This record gives sequence, structure tokens and C-alpha cells, in this order.
Amino acid sequence: MAKTATKHRFLRACKRQKSNTPVWFMRQAGRYMEVYRKLREKHTLLELCRDPELACEVTMQPIRRFDLDAAIIFSDILLPLEPLGVPFEFAKGEGPVIARPLRTKEDVDRLRAFDPREELGYVHEAIRLTVRALEGRVPLIGFCGAPFTLASYMIEGGSSRNYLHAKRMMYHQPETWNKLMETVSGVLAAHLEAQVEAGAEALQVFDSWVGALSPEDYREFVLPHSRAVLARARATGVPVIHFGTGTAGTLELLKEAGGDVIGVDWRIPLDEAWRRLGNDVGVQGNLDSVLLMAPAELLRKRVLDVLQRAGGRPGHIFNLGHGILPETPPESLDVVIETVRAFKP
Ligand code: CP3
Repeated sequence: MAKTATKHRFLRACKRQKSNTPVWFMRQAGRYMEVYRKLREKHTLLELCRDPELACEVTMQPIRRFDLDAAIIFSDILLPLEPLGVPFEFAKGEGPVIARPLRTKEDVDRLRAFDPREELGYVHEAIRLTVRALEGRVPLIGFCGAPFTLASYMIEGGSSRNYLHAKRMMYHQPETWNKLMETVSGVLAAHLEAQVEAGAEALQVFDSWVGALSPEDYREFVLPHSRAVLARARATGVPVIHFGTGTAGTLELLKEAGGDVIGVDWRIPLDEAWRRLGNDVGVQGNLDSVLLMAPAELLRKRVLDVLQRAGGRPGHIFNLGHGILPETPPESLDVVIETVRAFKP
């Protein structure tokens, strides 16, 4: 990677260089867009993910429609599960369902550490196609789930309220837990490296479930594994965004685990988060996704509030505090983008 100034606002902000505030949206491809729903009538989600041409097409849909500063490859954090030996499906209205969740040492011993270049090669091929299709307009972000979020999906078998099974494994079978986390981490790190080799210019690690953990449990059972993945991600030379939700109690620890930019959710004021994180990291966020359902006037006001809290400091990437919801009116994204573009700190 060249150390010289890059022309893209998004990459400049990742490196905390001066730039106008970049904006993109987590889950910017998806059901809130009519063109996506049309394609989904003909293909399942997994078909879209596994066909590089379709994945490229879906990645490009929001780029054609909105004035965005980054694309994110259309894929899913759960794709590594099947090659690990943990098949799942997306059940209608329920989200992911894993038929045989991991509970015992034997379950974990059966996991198959695989080579993502082979088993997830379709994601890397989709990245190659998308980089070509983007023609340098905006950088492409590659991603994966964080070890905790993926491991707890595999143990819980789907969404969870108390993470009882995952925490039970941590507390009662720490060796089994650590083995699971190490196996997952190795696969994730190699998957991120392959995404950069394929042309991703930035990476994001999604720890969507990390808010379930106390700071003590995060430090003891999770941080070392996240750190290992983030260190290998950063060694590729591209900027890395480390995102979690419900992290008001663990923000400093997330930073300790690594990342050039920390993604924060909407439950904490952005300036407070940044004060705690310090000036040596960028911050991504953090508008509540549900505000996209509010009248334009209120939406504008809340976007401005986030921007003012960032205060034009180098290193702010405007985003939501979590993914776009399917009910979102697309015009709301235009309102957000126009407000970000017009902002003068
Ligand atoms: O951001 C993007 O545009 C890229 C695409 C993307 C998807 N999943 C596609 C998808 C990304 C970045 C993800 C990440 C992901 N997947 C996360 C982390 C981010 C977050 O929201 O916390 C998680 C937890 C998952 C797991 C997952 N995938 C769930 C829980 C669900 C079902 C929930 C739902 O919205 O139905 C999915 C399905 C999924 N992945 C969809 C999309 C667009 C919904 C698609 C559909 O049915 O067409």
C-alpha cells in the first residue's frame, strides 16, 4: 500500500487524514431496495452470496442508486459455518437457524479448520469482479464476523437472549471454548487476507453480539482471539474497522483488541465514545437505523447532531449505529447523504 495521500475520502478518514466526512451504510445492499427484492424473488440469499456475478450485481445496486463513499461486498458473516462443518439455513422470518448447535468438546473437536481460499473462493471472486465493476469510483470493503459473534451463533444455534449456552461453555469448558475460538479465528483471519489479495481496500470485523458480555468476560474469553484476527487483518496493510453493538461498557477493550477505526452503535453519544477511545483511532457511526423511518426534518437534525459531535475531526466515517432495516424508505438515505455533504464543521 502506498503511504501517499489517497484520493478517496473514505480511505483518508480511515487513516485519520483530513477529508470531507465520508458516508456509507452497513447493510446498504438488501431488502429495502426494490431492485434487490426483485432479484431475491428468483434466488435465495445463499444463492446470491455464492454466485460471484450475482454478488457483484447486488454490491453495485446501492452504488448506482446513492452517492456513497464505499462499497461493501455482498456476502454474510455466517458463510464460514458450513465449511467448518456447521450447516445452517435462513428460515423465513426467523433469521439463521443452525440444525445441530455445538455444545460439547466432541462437537468442537469435529470442527474442520478449512482453507477459505478454497471453500470461500466465491467471495474472493466476487470481490475481483466488483473491483472491476467499480472502476475506481469508491473503495470496496471486505468483512467477516468476529470470533465471539460467530462462535456464539454456532453454540446458540440462532439468535439468543441470554447467550446461556455460549457463556456456559466459557465458564465450564474454557479449553473447549478457547479451541473453538482459535479454530474460528484462524479461518476468519485467512478469509480477510484473501479478501485483500482479491482487491478489498479496507476490512470490517463485525462483533454484532459482543454487547452480551461483561468487560471481565470480554477481556478473559474474547479479547485475545479478536486481537489475533485484527492483528493479521492489519498486517495486510489496509485499514481495519472494528465494529460492535452494545459496547458502551467495553469500548476501551474493543480498541485494545485492535482496529484503525472503531464502529460504535447509537446508544452512546459519538463525542463521548471518541473521548474515551482517544485521538489515535478513527470512529465510525452512529445514527440509530430507526431514525431513517423518521420525518426528514427530524432525521436531518439527528444527522447534524452526529456530525457536530464528531466536529470535523479527521477520522470520522459517517454510518448508522447498526445495519439498515428492510422497512427503510430509500429516500431517507438521500437525506442523510445530502446532510453529510453539506456539513461544514
Ligand atoms: O452490508 C452489506 O450491504 C453487505 C451485506 C451483509 C449481509 N450480512 C447480507 C445479508 C453484511 C455486512 C452482513 C453481515 C451480517 N450478517 C451480520 C453483521 C452485521 C449485523 O447486522 O449485525 C450478521 C449478524 C449477519 C447474520 C445474518 N444474516 C442475520 C442475522 C440475517 C437475517 C436477519 C435478516 O435481516 O433477515 C442475515 C441475512 C442477510 N444477510 C440479509 C442480507 C442482505 C437479509 C437478506 C435476505 O433475506 O434477502
